[in-house]
Amino acid sequence: MDKLIIEGGRELHGKVTVSGAKNAALPLLAATLIAPGDHILHNVPDLRDTRTMLKVMETLGAVWERNGTTIWVNTTNLTGAEAPYELVKTMRASVLVLGPLLAREGYARVSLPGGCAIGARPINFHLRGFEQLGVETTLTSGYVEASVKENLRGSVVYFDTPSVTGTENILMASVTAKGTTIIKNAAREPEVGNLIDMLNLMGAEIMGRDSDFLTVNGVDNLKPVETTIMPDRIETGTYIIAVAATGGDVEIEGCNPSHLPSLVEKMRNAGVHIEAGESSFTVKGNGLRSVDIRTMPYPGFPTDLQAQFMALMCFAEGVSVIHETIFENRFMHVAELQRMGADIKVDGATAIIKGKKREEICGAQVMATDLRASASLVIAALAAQGKTEISRIYHLERGYENMVEKLQKLGAVINKVRE
Ligand code: EPZ
Repeated sequence: MDKLIIEGGRELHGKVTVSGAKNAALPLLAATLIAPGDHILHNVPDLRDTRTMLKVMETLGAVWERNGTTIWVNTTNLTGAEAPYELVKTMRASVLVLGPLLAREGYARVSLPGGCAIGARPINFHLRGFEQLGVETTLTSGYVEASVKENLRGSVVYFDTPSVTGTENILMASVTAKGTTIIKNAAREPEVGNLIDMLNLMGAEIMGRDSDFLTVNGVDNLKPVETTIMPDRIETGTYIIAVAATGGDVEIEGCNPSHLPSLVEKMRNAGVHIEAGESSFTVKGNGLRSVDIRTMPYPGFPTDLQAQFMALMCFAEGVSVIHETIFENRFMHVAELQRMGADIKVDGATAIIKGKKREEICGAQVMATDLRASASLVIAALAAQGKTEISRIYHLERGYENMVEKLQKLGAVINKVRE
């Protein structure tokens, strides 16, 4: 397995360009299964997770080719409707093929994704939503079998709490249902909007983009499409936080500043100089004040930036209180940060971080446990004094394209070595 070696204590300077959004690429790739023909998706990041989604689609009969950040996919001859355990267990977002397969074939057999490091992450909302649309779901030996006799029928689907992939799955299943589907308490994340734009371009009739109330008028069929993946707002936020932690002056290009309202507010409260351009941020490290955050569905503070923000607060002046309200076990990074000298106390879903001086937080051997926890450790290692070794970095490579090269270009001393 590979590990990262980071020499901390250096400022970051220069320019970095963000890649396409992992959490938009996954549903948009899955959506190509709904309409047979040639699809073209631009700005698709080359990540472990997008490669897994393409493998799942191959097992279903899709063929694809990558040319730089553009992917061509042909989904004319689907040869199967089953997403196997060995793929789904490596990426739970494989469940996103359920909606498209139901819309296209009226049948799907997908391995139930297990839990993951950050929580149990059930898909009961997805299954209940499909049942509202007339789908029968059964669970046999770890697989969900979903089938519908005639057509899916429009209905009202209500989410107890907003679910990003739940909303995406119901949207993709409902586009060719007979009648109108209303989705209440829908997720409002920008990635859902990116999917709605793609489905409407394919001929769907979806109203209510960016709201928690979506209306889908079923149409007879959809046509293949050419579209573009939105910039990755979580990668953008990760680099904003990294610059704030190390000090320095960086321009982050190719992003959509309107997608990070809560982070920008919190960075300014923390004393960081951050300016938004048309499609860029300029971030200048400054003194750091402690700030409290509570993770919430969009447009609240993203849970996918909680671990990174906690690493930042380890270097701030004062005490920061972080509430994680979305996932029940998303503090796996705490123990690793404590090994570097961070002063963090956890009480249930609340973490209390007492900031320390830079020289009091030292490099160490640490272990990545999940995607965003690994980003948190990279940020802490960049800002800490001395050398840090991060093992199990396959977690990081699920969601960050060329992170080592991008950070080296900004002046970080970071290298990947084989363990
Ligand atoms: C998406 O996961 C993202 N993944 C996650 O990003 C992100 O953390 C999460 O949304 C929240 O923003 C992708 O988009 C591929 P949810 P998802 O359904 O859709 C509960 C990353 O780091 N819930 O919005 O799986 C669930 O347990 C990843 O890039 C149910 O109880 O998250 C959680 O507490 C991590 N039953 C809450 O809802 C369900 O059927 C929100 O989960 C579905 C969800």
